[in-house]
Amino acid sequence: MVDDTNVKLISEKDLDEFVNKLIDNKTYNVMGVKAKGERFVFDHLDNAKELRLDYDVTILPPKKYFLPPSEKLMDFNITKSFDIKKSKKSKKRIIIGIHPYDIIAIQQMDKYYLDSQKDDFYKKRRENTIIIGSDIQNVSKHSFAESMKTHTTYSGFDILLTNLGNKYAVTIGSKQGNDLLEKYGHFRDAKKSELKKIDKIRNQIASQYDKKVDIDKEEWSKYLVANYNNTLWEEKSDKCMSCSSCTMVCPTCYCYNILDDVSLNLKEGGRIRTWDGCLLKDFTKVGSGEIFRDDKKERYRHRFYRKGNYLPERYGFVACVGCGRCAIACLPNIADPCEVMNTLSSFDKSAETDKYFIKQQTKVPDKGTIHIPRSATIKNINKLTDRETLIEIKLDDNKSLGHSPGQFVEVSVLGIGEAPISISSPPKKDPTFQLVVRKVGNVTSKLVSLKPGDKIGIRGPFGNGFDIKKLENKNIIFVCAGLGVAPLRSLYLYVTDKKNRKKFKELKILYGCKEPCEAMFLDEFEELKKTSDYECKMTVDKCPKGECWEGEVGLITTLFPKIDYDNSKSKDTISVVCGPPIMYKFAIKSLKDMKIPDKNIYVSLERHMKCGVGKCGHCQINGVYVCKEGPVFRYDKVKKLPEALE
Ligand SMILES: Cc1cc2nc3c(=O)[nH]c(=O)nc-3n(C[C@H](O)[C@H](O)[C@H](O)COP(=O)(O)OP(=O)(O)OC[C@H]3O[C@@H](n4cnc5c(N)ncnc54)[C@H](O)[C@@H]3O)c2cc1C
Ligand code: SF4
Ligand code: SF4
Ligand code: FES
Repeated sequence: MVDDTNVKLISEKDLDEFVNKLIDNKTYNVMGVKAKGERFVFDHLDNAKELRLDYDVTILPPKKYFLPPSEKLMDFNITKSFDIKKSKKSKKRIIIGIHPYDIIAIQQMDKYYLDSQKDDFYKKRRENTIIIGSDIQNVSKHSFAESMKTHTTYSGFDILLTNLGNKYAVTIGSKQGNDLLEKYGHFRDAKKSELKKIDKIRNQIASQYDKKVDIDKEEWSKYLVANYNNTLWEEKSDKCMSCSSCTMVCPTCYCYNILDDVSLNLKEGGRIRTWDGCLLKDFTKVGSGEIFRDDKKERYRHRFYRKGNYLPERYGFVACVGCGRCAIACLPNIADPCEVMNTLSSFDKSAETDKYFIKQQTKVPDKGTIHIPRSATIKNINKLTDRETLIEIKLDDNKSLGHSPGQFVEVSVLGIGEAPISISSPPKKDPTFQLVVRKVGNVTSKLVSLKPGDKIGIRGPFGNGFDIKKLENKNIIFVCAGLGVAPLRSLYLYVTDKKNRKKFKELKILYGCKEPCEAMFLDEFEELKKTSDYECKMTVDKCPKGECWEGEVGLITTLFPKIDYDNSKSKDTISVVCGPPIMYKFAIKSLKDMKIPDKNIYVSLERHMKCGVGKCGHCQINGVYVCKEGPVFRYDKVKKLPEALE
């Protein structure tokens, strides 16, 4: 219901004048809705006459002003040791004509980008933007905003315009909006009859929607959860071209990618953020070549679950405002949530799928400006194998990294990019730490070619590590396969440290790799035995002729029966497992055979990561952000989580 104290009246002519004054005043960049051929776009306004408040829907939503399709987050000079400058560009801006559903989408974006670790770039743009909304005059035939209760709004704008014929009602939504109107507008108070007309017009708009969703938005989550295995996903996605147009045009899709761009003179460069889409095949591709959502059915389904289950569970809103843009953009006509939910409405909403869907939000503390790394220096660099290198790093601000075992950092090589790497050394008070880097691609190849004294960037530590308190007074079995030894090393070096050793009971380390030449830290394992009692068993998948190997030969699971262990210890035993995805199923089966309860098994999972703080969307396993809720998870919490260990 309209609050009369906040509503003013302005004639059509005075509205034009108001807009022209805003344009002429060079303090602001003034954007608004303009015609582009038969369709409409948000664009720079040169004159009030260009403004088309009678539009149905724009091609792209105004999200492009808050999260641009491409933006430079920082500049750097790669010829200097570590020279970065945070991008500062940000002029005050007014956007005129935003429809209520897009205003609500911006409010959703605020929750996503400004809760816990804030996105400073987004925040600055939001603070610098004045929103002049417009009630809908013509309903798009693709829109179902009325079903989503987003066809009107009473908040989220500085000013809202409602067309009352040859005049406009101006609802003031903020002091900023009031000041703007007072300074540049010629208006009067609205009369009672005019206030009534606003409500009437809004009701008329509501009645113009032909397209309706049969399921209340509060119920979307239930229907989705119950129908995870429905054949609908396969049938619909069959035609999907994996183009991600549906996510690009969506006001509530905001996943992004980060890459470094270097100028042709090979000196200056910038770290660029660009829109990305979860329907693209490489969205979940990791360095080892694994694609975690390889099947297009899974990617197609993920988009609907993100909108109707994952974000609602975390933030309390369905991430679809019913604008209908995806229905327009999708050539095979399969992207429309209204149609998909209406198909689902004929199915059961309480069917048991034996799957687990997350229902929690994890807070990430602010750690400086998002995406801007701290400067650090390579202290030592030692080749461990043909592929792996141990790198010791010192933070240039001389502060300790302050990590716990199992956490990771984002490592930057300016001009090449960033990669998430586990911290391989135990927590320390001094500013040094170690990483084990496997050379697989651009960033890691450059990293291992660096020399002591070279500069890199560090963000983090990120993620949930191991809860050391929970390990105290327990037997611990470490299961490290391949590069999985890197994160687990930070933990086993901590528990075997003579200051800590007595807090833990029996320790066993099982370590496996493909061939003897890939084995790491063999000397260190031997050395540790001098100061700490623990049992260590090693194996290689195969030992080529001529190579020397004193351990076992066979898969890592062959080691389990060989350790000194009886099932009576199970309740007091914790196992921590890290290795390639294929290994988990088999290692966990062996631990179950040893009667170790699921809640006593911890796994560390790898996913594609860009932001490290739950914003870019890359690392999502189903509804879980591996970067903030993981990478370390208790097995019982993820064993039924779709996509985690399947
Ligand atoms: C939590 C975690 C811990 C990790 N710990 C280690 C470790 O201790 N040691 C180690 O060697 N590796 C580790 N990795 C894997 C490492 O991050 C990837 O191998 C690395 O990102 C590959 O980058 P690249 O540029 O060298 O490879 P490329 O193959 O050149 O990658 C190409 C592009 O793919 C993307 N990409 C590939 N894999 C990833 C990824 N995992 N995350 C983000 N982007 C990716 C990037 O955009 C990259 O520029 C870890 C990964 C995660 C998620
Ligand atoms: S659903 Fe449609 S728009 Fe989205 S990726 Fe598939 S084909 Fe492209
Ligand atoms: S999912 Fe489609 S209808 Fe819903 S907000 Fe996004 S583009 Fe609009
Ligand atoms: S959401 Fe960006 S890495 Fe997890």
